[in-house]
Amino acid sequence: MEAHLSVQSLKGSLVIGGVGILLAGHCTLEALNAIKHADIVFSVMGDELMQQWLEDLNPNTESLQYLYKTSHSRPEAYRAMVDKILAAVRQGLHVCVVFYGHPGVFVTPSHAAIKLARAEGYEALMLPGVSAEDCLTADLGVDPGRFGCQSYEAHHFVTTMPAIETRAALILWQIAVVGDASFTRFDACPEALETLSSVLQAHYPADHLVTVYAAATLPTMAPEIEVVKLADLAGVSVSQASTLYVPPLRKQGRPERAEPF
Ligand SMILES: C[S@@+](CC[C@H](N)C(=O)[O-])C[C@H]1O[C@@H](n2cnc3c(N)ncnc32)[C@H](O)[C@@H]1O
Repeated sequence: MEAHLSVQSLKGSLVIGGVGILLAGHCTLEALNAIKHADIVFSVMGDELMQQWLEDLNPNTESLQYLYKTSHSRPEAYRAMVDKILAAVRQGLHVCVVFYGHPGVFVTPSHAAIKLARAEGYEALMLPGVSAEDCLTADLGVDPGRFGCQSYEAHHFVTTMPAIETRAALILWQIAVVGDASFTRFDACPEALETLSSVLQAHYPADHLVTVYAAATLPTMAPEIEVVKLADLAGVSVSQASTLYVPPLRKQGRPERAEPF
């Protein structure tokens, strides 16, 4: 398995990797290595082509995606994933679990599995991957270091209303499921963007231009970039892959920060 894990012992081990957003193109060499050499690979992909590509790399790959369908809520699905992963580690297998994007960015079961495996005395490691935010930075041409950048899960943002710095950028994830307090929805809520738009209008003017973004997942695709006024956000069609970018609010006459990095 991966070089970071000190021993190819009889004891099980866990590596959690991410394959990025773009099929095959974003997978790091260390993640590729971990996938190829694992006794078993568990995957949470949601994309058939990505799943097929993984199975070609390691035929002993099992998708855990079905747990979203057999569970009553997302938290229940996450618990079931952790149970499956840990059961294999306890059997003495070198387990690799693969998520799309970065496996530690807005992914509950990856952190939970690592924590539990370590608590039980197994070696467990997370490998970084290319996240949707990394793609957004590149595709929208925005530097999170220029004015600062805040990042929230959209439902959490709407329900907890954290203090935000409007002079810095704001990225909201999972905008399709805002308003799902029961955590039982796996598809887009039609009323989600209406709620989000009104919450954001407490901080930004109605004509502030925001971007609904979806990175390309195939080399033949282009990223989806839709720029709309905040007041018109509810009219945009979104999917599970949509992320909202809210640019910094520029105060009238306030100069842009001059120093380049
Ligand atoms: C559960 S999070 C997983 C994030 C993933 N671990 C990552 O590193 O990007 C799911 C959210 O990621 C964002 N996302 C996933 N795929 C995306 C894509 N192709 N383009 C833009 N954002 C995406 C969306 O906000 C989506 O609701």
